[in-house]
Amino acid sequence: MVVAMGSKHQHCRSSSSSNCISLKFSTIISAIVLLSTSFYLLISPVKHLPEPLSWAAGRKARFNGDLRDATFPWNSLCFGQNHNEKLKLAVFSKSWPIGAGPGGMERHAATLYQTLAARGHEIHVFTAPSDRKPHVDIHQGNLHVYFVANDHGSVNCSLAFEIFNTINGREAFDYVHTESVSLPHWRAKVVPRVAVTWHGIWYEIMHSKLFEELLLNPQEVSQKPVVAELQEAMPRLIDEIRFFPTYTQHICISNSAGEVLVKIYQLPEKNVHVILNGVDETKFVHDLEAGVRFRKKHGVPENVSLVMGVAGRLVRDKGHPLLHEAFSTITKTHAGIYLLVAGSGPWGKRYEELGPNVKVLGALESSELSEFYNAIDVFVNPTLRPQGLDLTLIEAMHCGKPVLTPNYPSIVGTVVVNESFGYTFSPNVKSFVEALKSVIRDGPKVLQRKGSICREYALSMFTATKMASAYERFFLCMKNPRFCQYPLPTDC
Ligand SMILES: *[C@@H]1O[C@H](CO)[C@@H](O)[C@H](O)[C@H]1NC(C)=O
Ligand SMILES: *[C@@H]1O[C@H](CO)[C@@H](O)[C@H](O)[C@H]1NC(C)=O
Ligand SMILES: *[C@@H]1O[C@H](CO)[C@@H](O)[C@H](O)[C@H]1NC(C)=O
Repeated sequence: MVVAMGSKHQHCRSSSSSNCISLKFSTIISAIVLLSTSFYLLISPVKHLPEPLSWAAGRKARFNGDLRDATFPWNSLCFGQNHNEKLKLAVFSKSWPIGAGPGGMERHAATLYQTLAARGHEIHVFTAPSDRKPHVDIHQGNLHVYFVANDHGSVNCSLAFEIFNTINGREAFDYVHTESVSLPHWRAKVVPRVAVTWHGIWYEIMHSKLFEELLLNPQEVSQKPVVAELQEAMPRLIDEIRFFPTYTQHICISNSAGEVLVKIYQLPEKNVHVILNGVDETKFVHDLEAGVRFRKKHGVPENVSLVMGVAGRLVRDKGHPLLHEAFSTITKTHAGIYLLVAGSGPWGKRYEELGPNVKVLGALESSELSEFYNAIDVFVNPTLRPQGLDLTLIEAMHCGKPVLTPNYPSIVGTVVVNESFGYTFSPNVKSFVEALKSVIRDGPKVLQRKGSICREYALSMFTATKMASAYERFFLCMKNPRFCQYPLPTDC
């Protein structure tokens, strides 16, 4: 789950941007139409080869030069670790995971910093506990986590800065890293050596709102605040474009976000970098037997011809209205299609009402998730949120499953690199049903073949180790330009 952190940090914002709200609604709508046109231009059809100068996916095995000039994910390079340079990093993060429960962004951040600390770097994290209860600070080896929550459970920026300044005064930090706006821009102004990772930008969030609005039935419009959210999106976007240059270095989690930061937000290309998210490759593995067991355990009939799976919170903005309707349509003409739904939420009941071809499993333990992925033939992610890089897609790929997903720029070219990885559709029912027909036409044999291509690619790009190595090299490069050269003799 990727959280658009920008939207959750109102408490840290000054009210100076509210004057933007007075933009006329008509202006906003025409601007949206313009921007969406450019958005669609950015979506390259899956079959398209990347243009030479575009932000490209894929391995760049022969790259030779300054890493700051790379317009492709750093994950695709192979960084050696046998150097003696140690970093002292400060990290600002909205929250820190408490307990074993699943948790998207904060779990991702915790994995990264634990790995960097284990590699001998001194890491100081300023954050708040995810359960919003009081906890003592963590000091484990090189990892120091300071819980600096205010009464509402979110990070108290003043308090975080007091501790930051004390530690920085003893020996200066090499670099500062913030997960989205956890370190607000008016504070970032006084921290020149700062890099920010954007997990979702308003340019993308605006498109989410647009797709939600377009998908609503006209009679629902009066009940839903989507139009108001659309109206809010444009001033938020303008605000972002104005304050983003306050941060020195920018890291994006998809090629398309990198391209938007350069071409729409107008940030200098050498300050924009792509490091893709990774998942623990030892937890998500290809295991045929586990898949068979899982099907038996949950009573998937043996005579079905194709098992589709969907995972995550069963809420509207994850695209469940879309999947629900597309699935009910396709099963009218194709009886052997089965759907496994992992997760809970308001749409669970509606899936159950679809009859014997759907099984709602509820929320799964993280240990069961890998088995779930192994039990299916194809993973469906109907999300209406183009921002971020959805971890479930990557998890399914690690388990050797092809994916069926909307054709958002953040997905096409970064995750679903081309048609050998799966299927894409526009976020509407008709396009979705067409894509489902292609999946059915291809059948399990072809799906398996695509699945193994996915798995191979995921292992080369989307592992926690790859992600940590890329971040490590990035901060080393920021500390000492010698490390910006690639390859070094120590690289693999
Ligand atoms: C799809 O992309 C992968 C990874 O970049 C590449 O190895 C493969 O040749 C491509 N296949 C097609 C059909 O373009
Ligand atoms: C934040 O921390 C500062 C400094 O310790 C403190 O004075 C202030 O009351 C805190 N604010 C909140 C909302 O907890
Ligand atoms: C599978 O078997 C069940 C029970 O025997 C039957 O009701 C159902 O129609 C069969 N489905 C298909 C797709 O053949």
